Amino acid sequence: MQVWNDYLSQNKQRFLDELLDLLRIPSVSADSKYKEDVARCAEAVKQSLLNAGCDNAEVCPTAGHPIVYGEKMIDPSLPTVLVYGHYDVQPADPLDLWHSGPFEPVIKDEKIYARGACDDKGQMFMHVKALEVMTKTNTLACNIKFMIEGEEEVGSVNLGKFLEGNKEKLKADIVLVSDTSMISMEHPSLETGLRGLAYMEVEVTGPNRDLHSGVYGGAVANPINILCKMIASLHDENNHITIPGFYDKVQELSEADRKALNNAPFDPEEYKNDLGVKAVWGEKGYTTLERTGVRPTLDVNGIWGGYTGEGAKTVLPSKAYAKISMRLVPDQTSHEIAKMFQQHFESIAPDYVHVKVTEHHGGEPVVTPTDSAAYKAAAEAIKTSFGKEPIPTRGGGSIPIIALFEKILGLKTVLFGFGLDNDNIHSPNEKYDVFNYFKGIETLPYFHKYFAEMSKN
Ligand code: BES
Ligand code: MN
Ligand code: MN
Repeated sequence: MQVWNDYLSQNKQRFLDELLDLLRIPSVSADSKYKEDVARCAEAVKQSLLNAGCDNAEVCPTAGHPIVYGEKMIDPSLPTVLVYGHYDVQPADPLDLWHSGPFEPVIKDEKIYARGACDDKGQMFMHVKALEVMTKTNTLACNIKFMIEGEEEVGSVNLGKFLEGNKEKLKADIVLVSDTSMISMEHPSLETGLRGLAYMEVEVTGPNRDLHSGVYGGAVANPINILCKMIASLHDENNHITIPGFYDKVQELSEADRKALNNAPFDPEEYKNDLGVKAVWGEKGYTTLERTGVRPTLDVNGIWGGYTGEGAKTVLPSKAYAKISMRLVPDQTSHEIAKMFQQHFESIAPDYVHVKVTEHHGGEPVVTPTDSAAYKAAAEAIKTSFGKEPIPTRGGGSIPIIALFEKILGLKTVLFGFGLDNDNIHSPNEKYDVFNYFKGIETLPYFHKYFAEMSKN
């Protein structure tokens, strides 16, 4: 038992209250209506860093939402850990599906309910509180820097430039990120990879104006019907993606790696029950863990057009739209896949419509090493606080900036997430278990301790 555990148990209520205060700020990065709140949240994060023991902290403006930077440098001969996280959150809608206000956090059944509870305020704030614990108990073993951004949920569009312009300031030995999930508290795990992302928007235009669906219906192509057909054709009967060249650069796992991946505890019945589905779906020849971990996907994220208001309107619309994203795996690259999508989508458009395809933000897939001192320190930290070795897994989500840490700063990352897959991130009723929050605060100081020790060898 370390001294910091006493400090943690004496301050639990305050640590919880401070997180709830942060969750009350609606820092929705996607919606300009919340710009002031996002800025206010950045200030609050900066203040929390100073309170936790940072020697200096600042709010750095960008062309978009600000980045919060803070540091506590104790000894240049010790390794430096750069903590990355985000204080922005996803929009809360649909609001009517929340059991309590998304920005009025409540604790129910030992779970914190609020937008951002897990993704990523709750997880990011564990690092702030861990710093307080370490400074107050004189146990800080590494130098520590924080870079907490406000645009992760909108693609980190200004962060790359910030990395380019602040290489010296951000000098570190490892990036530490808590923005992913574990299998369960009984089966602690560490994600060793993230998927990339290519995000597209398509517009299909038929006639030059909305038409009466009786006067013209049957004689003029309906762009919504056509769009649905085009989208449906993007998967074949085995649920493979049909875009030519799409799989060309996909790395196939060795049989040994596949076996290791599928060795992770996974209960298909529990999975289906939790989601309320009778059967799972996916690419033929792959398991659910492979489908989310090491295989690329294509999904419609939104589709609209025509009349969607109350009652019925008999209209043959002029336009139909969809947002379509693809999750990518090594060695696919975001821009290349976006181009392939565009060419293919244009090529399958029949004569009676024309299509416009645009590319939104994207990000590259990453695989993080498991043989490094930092990974071993994280594994050892989990072993100490959970009493169990972590299981390496591959995550299905994306954090586009991770690939740029390596490219621009030459830094590897450890994905040290404490969320759970059913935390409802990006969904109504997002939650984070109180247990996970405190377990994270308890575990992180061990990481710093072991990383300092292991870096010596
Ligand atoms: N924290 C998530 C990513 C994540 C979640 C990774 C769960 C692994 C497990 C992050 O905030 C996120 O939502 N990223 C976006 C990408 C971004 C460009 C909007 C995503 O994955 O959709
Ligand atoms: Mn996140
Ligand atoms: Mn997110």
